[in-house]
Amino acid sequence: MDAGPRLASLPEIERALWQQLEAAVTERSHPWRTPVLATVAGDAADARTVILREVSTAERQLVVYTDERAGKVAQIAARPHGTLVMWSNALRWQLRCRVRLSVETDGLGVTSRWARLQHTAAAQDYLAPHAPGAPVPAGTGVAAAAQRAFFAVVAAEIESIDWLELHADGHRRARFDSVGGRWLQP
Ligand SMILES: Cc1cc2nc3c(=O)[nH]c(=O)nc-3n(C[C@H](O)[C@H](O)[C@H](O)COP(=O)(O)O)c2cc1C
Repeated sequence: MDAGPRLASLPEIERALWQQLEAAVTERSHPWRTPVLATVAGDAADARTVILREVSTAERQLVVYTDERAGKVAQIAARPHGTLVMWSNALRWQLRCRVRLSVETDGLGVTSRWARLQHTAAAQDYLAPHAPGAPVPAGTGVAAAAQRAFFAVVAAEIESIDWLELHADGHRRARFDSVGGRWLQP
């Protein structure tokens, strides 16, 4: 990751931020690899750290994996609106991605990704015997893995990106959406 020279135009900034998002999937130390995903939980907000698994610049889509029993899955089913927030101290850039969320628990998109994942250590995350957040019964030792995987794929379609740059010469902010980019007062 390299901040490079200060970018002047909105198209340059938009291109660069998507390049950084793509880099975040493959560079394990990239700070945007672990964004915070905020969702709507009834009349409250909820948020948690997730791992950015895939980025499609062409489709303006981000992908996250989860356990289908996780609280966020029911929240998304009820209210599919979310925000992914990330900050890079190296770039001095914050992104707030307003997204429309959907969850897949079966179908080719799920089985093909699970086929790649199931023999890795990460598979354990989707094989827990109890749902994420469920109380662990007292006296339970190391519980056996579940009989089946609860692997789910969360797709986040980007509706707009709020970009904020902190800089000694003056902060800058812009919004990028389907109608283009525009500068905003930071
Ligand atoms: C660094 C880090 C990465 C995480 N990555 C994921 C992830 O990719 N998917 C996920 O569902 N939970 C991930 N978690 C766990 C979530 O933050 C959260 O605790 C869990 O998903 C339950 O959230 P929920 O009850 O709101 O669904 C991660 C946590 C940390 C600290």
